[in-house]
Amino acid sequence: MVDGRAAAILHWYASHARDLPWRKPDAGPWAVLVSEIMLQQTPVSRVLPAYAAWLERWPTPAALAAAAPADAVRQWGRLGYPRRALRLHASARAITERHGGEVPGSLEALRALPGVGSYTAAAVASFAFGQRHAVLDTNVRRVLARLVRGDLRPPPNPTAMEVRLAESLLPVEPGLAPRWSVAVMELGALICTADRPRCPDCPVVSECAWHRAGRPVDDPHRARRRSQGYAGTDRQCRGRLLALLRESDGPVPAARLDAAWADADQCARSLASLVADGLAERLPGGSYILPR
Ligand code: ADE
Repeated sequence: MVDGRAAAILHWYASHARDLPWRKPDAGPWAVLVSEIMLQQTPVSRVLPAYAAWLERWPTPAALAAAAPADAVRQWGRLGYPRRALRLHASARAITERHGGEVPGSLEALRALPGVGSYTAAAVASFAFGQRHAVLDTNVRRVLARLVRGDLRPPPNPTAMEVRLAESLLPVEPGLAPRWSVAVMELGALICTADRPRCPDCPVVSECAWHRAGRPVDDPHRARRRSQGYAGTDRQCRGRLLALLRESDGPVPAARLDAAWADADQCARSLASLVADGLAERLPGGSYILPR
């Protein structure tokens, strides 16, 4: 039996779910893996076109494995956190070499792939293989913190207690756990949002511990970390340098990169970090190029 809360959330999901391509029954494990890596740090609206273009170009792990890392970084474009492109490329090679070109279904084998952590492994095993695992992304963690524990926000880092709680709520009916996980995720994305929860539209508002407690706000001593702005950061500088490398067919002279950013120290530091991350290579003459 599915409990009342689970039934209400599943019922809500049936009529409110967004029609996202990686949720279609024919998406397949490779498409699901690509989507989850892209969605780790990028909103759905920006992932949609990048996901379609990626799979059009590389419909299988073997197709991506045959490409150069530079192609993956170029195709990643402006999606942000571009090390993910290198890791996805390395995963495609590992899948081709170790798993005969098929994305593995076990949590352990998934976790062994570059860039695949506990969350992504559980998401792929659930959504692509129909297995029963707790899938704890930030949306799910927030919904459970409010609904069950009465807290506005989950702890800063995932805890073993959260995993146990999420596992205890998974429906036992074969095949239903992945649908429950994606439904909770969707509730967090559309209704139980971080800053403006739409409680009147929530299917489980009457059972929500946080709502029942009068929707307490943050303890001021535990004020939420505001995310760092983008303008002027090393991240922005790295993005600008990487864009110059992506847009060039050949090596880019250091002087052209230096000219792209006013603060010379920050520019040098950012360039060095791109090289350290494997996103750029320094050639003997002092010019730079995407990884080959
Ligand atoms: N559907 C499946 N996984 C998802 C994710 N990580 N974000 C949004 N929708 C999803």
